[in-house]
Amino acid sequence: MTSPLPVRLPAGPDDTPRLRLAYGADYNPEQWPREVWEEDIRLMREAGVNLVSVGIFSWARLQPTAGTWDFTWLDEVMDLLHEGGIGVDLATATASPPPWLTTAHPEILPVTASGETLWPGARQHWRPTSPVFRTYALRLVREIAGRYAGHPALVAWHISNELGCHNVYDHSDDAARAFRDWLRLRYTTLDALNHAWGTAFWSQHYSDWQQILPPRLAASHPNPTQQLDFKRFSSDALKEYLRAERDVLREIAPDTPVTTNFMVMGGIKGMNYADWAHEVDFVSNDHYVRPGPQARDELSFCANLTSGIAGHRPWFLMEHSTSAVNWQPVNVPKRPGDLARDSLLHVAHGADAVCFFQWRQSAAGAEKYHSAMVPHAGADSEVFRAVTDLGRTLEALAPVTGATREPARVAVLFDWESWWASEQDSHPTSLLDYHQEALDWYSALLALGIRADVVTTRCDLDPYDLLIAPVLHVIPETLAKDLNGYVESGGHLVTTYFSGVVDENDHIWLGGHPGALRELLGIRIEEFGPLPADDGVELDDSTTGTVWTDRITVTGPEVEILARYRTGAYTDRPAVTRRTAGRGSASYVSTRLGAEGLTALLPRLLAAAGVDSELPPAARGRVELAVRRGDDSRYLFLVNRTDEPVPVPGLTGELVIGPKRDDSGGGVLVLPPRSVAVLRQPAD
Ligand code: GLA
Ligand code: GLA
Repeated sequence: MTSPLPVRLPAGPDDTPRLRLAYGADYNPEQWPREVWEEDIRLMREAGVNLVSVGIFSWARLQPTAGTWDFTWLDEVMDLLHEGGIGVDLATATASPPPWLTTAHPEILPVTASGETLWPGARQHWRPTSPVFRTYALRLVREIAGRYAGHPALVAWHISNELGCHNVYDHSDDAARAFRDWLRLRYTTLDALNHAWGTAFWSQHYSDWQQILPPRLAASHPNPTQQLDFKRFSSDALKEYLRAERDVLREIAPDTPVTTNFMVMGGIKGMNYADWAHEVDFVSNDHYVRPGPQARDELSFCANLTSGIAGHRPWFLMEHSTSAVNWQPVNVPKRPGDLARDSLLHVAHGADAVCFFQWRQSAAGAEKYHSAMVPHAGADSEVFRAVTDLGRTLEALAPVTGATREPARVAVLFDWESWWASEQDSHPTSLLDYHQEALDWYSALLALGIRADVVTTRCDLDPYDLLIAPVLHVIPETLAKDLNGYVESGGHLVTTYFSGVVDENDHIWLGGHPGALRELLGIRIEEFGPLPADDGVELDDSTTGTVWTDRITVTGPEVEILARYRTGAYTDRPAVTRRTAGRGSASYVSTRLGAEGLTALLPRLLAAAGVDSELPPAARGRVELAVRRGDDSRYLFLVNRTDEPVPVPGLTGELVIGPKRDDSGGGVLVLPPRSVAVLRQPAD
């Protein structure tokens, strides 16, 4: 089914308006002399670019002093882009406040937990809750919206930039005030707050709202529920800020859709995007590959999760990189093929736009060593040739525009609350890595050639045959009921160590762990057994566990022991269990098996749910499959995960992009290393 986004790109090369994928970058013309702009437009056309994000860091240029405005250069840029047939995703320019503002109002600068000010000189040095910042920022938004509403180049509004990238946790007095307001709304009474925060502990009882502070640097572990609430509050504070800008844009230019670029990517944890998605007219995401053995699994995982957040409607990839970035310890360039494969993997998971940071590589500033579509070497370069090739590929993929993602039968549940709470301090171990555990399950599914969705608790979970909920640490009563209902009606639930341990206040479910799921799983844990960093235990199915073990007693009926510990303190006790319950089952994995161990375990869990790979055996693990569904077609994206050619026999369909079927090989599709093919099949 198609569900096109409300984004109207300019007409394509043949001048007929039609749906097509967006292609482009952040465009920062203010960094370049006027004569470069003409060349920019010419090269953008050559590359097939049809959308650029403009003005993201232009505040100082647009408003040189508190009382003066200069839009002439932006007027010209907008007009030039329009003449060039390139749409503009116009930023509200509020991401980086100019020096005149921070000099006049240093009280907008964020403050760390230890009381240090984050000074100007970089970017995003503003408090999400500062009323002064908001006044100035919204004034700018109003000016920009008023001037460019109705401009023919305008395609979408781009609010700020990566909200929370550098300023999600502000511990200032503004934050303290806003935190108290947020807490009053959540708890209404101080009694309720005292209960939720467990303030009977360590003499923390509050007798006045004014006594409450953000969790600033303290003598020992700050109150865990205070910490968790501060994470919730900080995400909400940025969401409120997003709404404030959005409301101005909607008031002045209601016909232009609003977005902001999320950062669903490893290492970025502060913003609960599952809770933000409905605030924008369409979801956009930025993603940067982190080197390592799971680099592309992580890309796929994040693109997939972005789709889950977007309700499986299409979304925009607003930024990624053509090659190296500048902010990792070592910034390795991409290999041939990676630029296109990375882009198309996002499209496979629902992206209707492929955009980069940035169009032209900067000659000065902190990002001058960050790759771009036009590198320092200029257009006569491998990167620009790959960029131009990708433009043609995306043009060929125009029919995919608006197609939704076809649901898989397996889902991995990703939950910000559990991510936040499970990794807090004063816990059984500091080695637990929530994101890594979820990614390992996803990697194991990829290794077995199983198509899976990454979903949040806001998604409808019932349709999935197998639901994997790694480290689902926070389980409020309603979620416990939902999971029981899911299993009762035939779903197969798999969960892991440190799941179901606390409620939404971070209070332990008493009576033995995992309290919220104890009966459903038919097990009881009296004590956790985390492992030292260099320690591991053997299981009797030849897998190895690290990080965590549990001392499990089987308490329920119909519990099967899928694996036992063969070594360690819990030798001979259950390590992996499965209880048949209702029409489904509930399984528990009590240790960290890693991607390899999970690949060994998963076939048994999949078999119980009746799930098999949709790929031919020769391609499983070597090819990732994702499916998008249009009104009358399904599009099978086949992504070669390896550095070798991979044959994919037996799949029918018209080739939309990819290598010609090898006639000599009996018409078999052979994917070159690191490449992508798309097959179109009639939808049933
Ligand atoms: C010290 C403190 C106790 C408690 C323990 C925990 O002994 O006096 O209050 O915090 O540490 O190990
Ligand atoms: C983020 C920002 C961009 C740029 C890139 C560099 O995505 O939004 O402005 O800094 O990182 O990777």
